[in-house]
Amino acid sequence: VPVPIFDCVVFGATGDLTLRKLLPALYYRFRDGQMTPESRIIGAARSRLSDDDYRARAARALEQHVPAQDHDKQTIHHFLNQIFYIPIDATEPDADWSQFLRVLDDACIRVFYLATSPDLYGPICQALGTAGLVTEKSRVVLEKPIGHDLASARAILESVGSVFSEAQTFRIDHYLGKETVQNLLALRFANTIFERLWNADVIDHVQITVAETVGLEGRGGYYDRSGALRDMLQNHMLQLLCLVAMEAPVSLQADRVRDEKLKVLRALKRMDPHDVATHTIRGQYAAGAIDGQPVPGYAADLGDGSTSLTESFVALKAQLCTLRWANVPFYLRTGKRLPKKVSEIVIQFRAVPFSIFPSDAAEWHPNSLIVTLQPEEGMRLEMMTKDPGPGGLRLSPTGLDIRFEKTFGRRFPDAYERLLMDAVRGDPTLFMRRDEVEAAWCWVEPILQAWASRPDHPRPYPAGSWGPTAAIALIERDGRTWHEDLE
Ligand code: BG6
Repeated sequence: VPVPIFDCVVFGATGDLTLRKLLPALYYRFRDGQMTPESRIIGAARSRLSDDDYRARAARALEQHVPAQDHDKQTIHHFLNQIFYIPIDATEPDADWSQFLRVLDDACIRVFYLATSPDLYGPICQALGTAGLVTEKSRVVLEKPIGHDLASARAILESVGSVFSEAQTFRIDHYLGKETVQNLLALRFANTIFERLWNADVIDHVQITVAETVGLEGRGGYYDRSGALRDMLQNHMLQLLCLVAMEAPVSLQADRVRDEKLKVLRALKRMDPHDVATHTIRGQYAAGAIDGQPVPGYAADLGDGSTSLTESFVALKAQLCTLRWANVPFYLRTGKRLPKKVSEIVIQFRAVPFSIFPSDAAEWHPNSLIVTLQPEEGMRLEMMTKDPGPGGLRLSPTGLDIRFEKTFGRRFPDAYERLLMDAVRGDPTLFMRRDEVEAAWCWVEPILQAWASRPDHPRPYPAGSWGPTAAIALIERDGRTWHEDLE
């Protein structure tokens, strides 16, 4: 799909997200001809750097974050020539915003990408507005988390909204740019077989796990103010839950899809303090080992000698008050320093109501559909089949497996590549609407409040384990098991 000429101004240009994700994503789009040679990237941050200094940083970032087989000297050289840099301190009242006027081209699409701390979203947008930098062809892209709680999120949304219209605002949740996540729509609504079974009559429960092996990775300053609930659950995981649970939209038009996701967020049963105490578990990693290598605990990773009450792990049981999902729990968990990087959604179907097979014929595994986002994007339908051979009727679970990269035989673009180009084109389908962000915070707010009223230490878990044992108890007391324990 053609992409118009654009100027992309990235605030937070020296930060981890820009160097690790945004520049590599733009490089690939440039390499594949979607970022035209007239388009430009303008990095903006506090450091006093020249264009050349910043290009050198960008070059190092590509070296580090683009696999060697995709390095092409000529292409990198041309790409770097399209990068510029403007030093600016957005917290400074007399910062010189007119620098941008001299560089930006009024005729082309203008994307302001805010990869900064969310406290700066309001001030940056206000300054852009006052400096006359917001044209009709401008858009703003906001990274998550938008705010720290419901009140701060509303204040940011309001302040940004007074400068950019809803149609100009792109609230990014990079999980929505992942191929498998978009594939959930195809799976559910382009096939006859699943949608008919997609309800409480047939589905016992749903599990969503986003596990990471990394720890704080030098992002302690941000992460320690955030924690797993705000960093991953309020946004990425609730978006996954929405795509699993929503009704079919009447069309794929952006607002029709977002209407359905919003209904799911509003149908989430609000937790009272008792629910929070019984249905949520927060943990923090202690020293342990990942892949046999010793790793330090959370406090040591923070490195400032302080003890912190921030959770690096959260597990919870959510419920939806809808006809389709009556009494079907959604178990969600995410954490850092878990044994492997895996993101998956498990749709666990009910057991057959009556078995004609002898009880010792099998170790029964009711059907499950496992949608894997990471490490390899794919889907697997677990079914009971007969063991081959003449030795009587023995059954065992086997899987129907699709591995997307293998099936399609081509590189899967990173989520940011898709989302950046969608923002340039002005397609908001895979971005969160303002009411969605608010609804997600509304649901998370009572959990934050209940935790804040009992500021006890999160339960420790050794790095390299699946979180505190209480997270296992959370699902086991309902007679269920986390998926990896069944493997
Ligand atoms: C980001 C979080 O949004 O998502 C990080 O801020 C996390 O803490 C990352 O590591 C995970 O993304 P992915 O695509 O690697 O699963």
